[in-house]
Amino acid sequence: MRRKVIAGNWKMNMLPNEAIDFINNLAPLVKDSKNEVIICVPFTDLFYTLLTVQETNIHVGAQNMHWEEKGAYTGEVSADMLKSINVEYVIIGHSERRQYFNETDETVNLKVKSALKHGLKPIVCVGETLEQKEAGKTLEVVTSQTSKALQGLTLEDISNTIVAYEPIWAIGTGKTASSDDANNSIKAIRNQIQKDFGTDDITILYGGSVKEDNARELFTMSDIDGGLVGGASLNAEKFSKIVNFD
Ligand code: 13P
Repeated sequence: MRRKVIAGNWKMNMLPNEAIDFINNLAPLVKDSKNEVIICVPFTDLFYTLLTVQETNIHVGAQNMHWEEKGAYTGEVSADMLKSINVEYVIIGHSERRQYFNETDETVNLKVKSALKHGLKPIVCVGETLEQKEAGKTLEVVTSQTSKALQGLTLEDISNTIVAYEPIWAIGTGKTASSDDANNSIKAIRNQIQKDFGTDDITILYGGSVKEDNARELFTMSDIDGGLVGGASLNAEKFSKIVNFD
């Protein structure tokens, strides 16, 4: 059985002192969990968070990176830079970045390859808009995004990659995909990866208004390996209940 993974995405929230307090509060609450616990923090919190998680079972991720190694890209951060301070995970292609910062399937693919090359584990986001859902295109959209994001990866790369299915209409809206719908989309993503790489052994998370009262139902579905949690990851106690759903 695949290990469950619960990842928080703080988005643009939390100052360093708040991050340190959060980790100090969360650590004792999740110390006995057998699930992988990840917190993806803003760049300015990374260093403090990495120092604070030492001796805990909490892992740390960034929320974005550039695909180039270095150079004249003002304001950007490379995979090598993240790796140099021991960041382990990086969210790539979140719908907010696709929507507000013009990320495309092509740039997502470049970032995924660069992350893996430098030993970071990408958490690759895919998901349909409300319009696409209503047009019955969900599975077509998410399988195509997945294929394009993972194009050119090796089998070993796949084993170091996490996919997060986040229907855009469910993010920050309080609307959650039904557990059956989320499971069906994730099953379709898994089948696509089987078709593209000959394995379906990959961790696939659900994201979109995950809370303590719906986590268990979602995370115990056959194909859902855990969650990528936004709003509810900003409160240590609430987040710990999601981590400890089982
Ligand atoms: P919410 O949990 O706030 O809906 O956000 C989901 C998300 O975008 C996580 O990456």
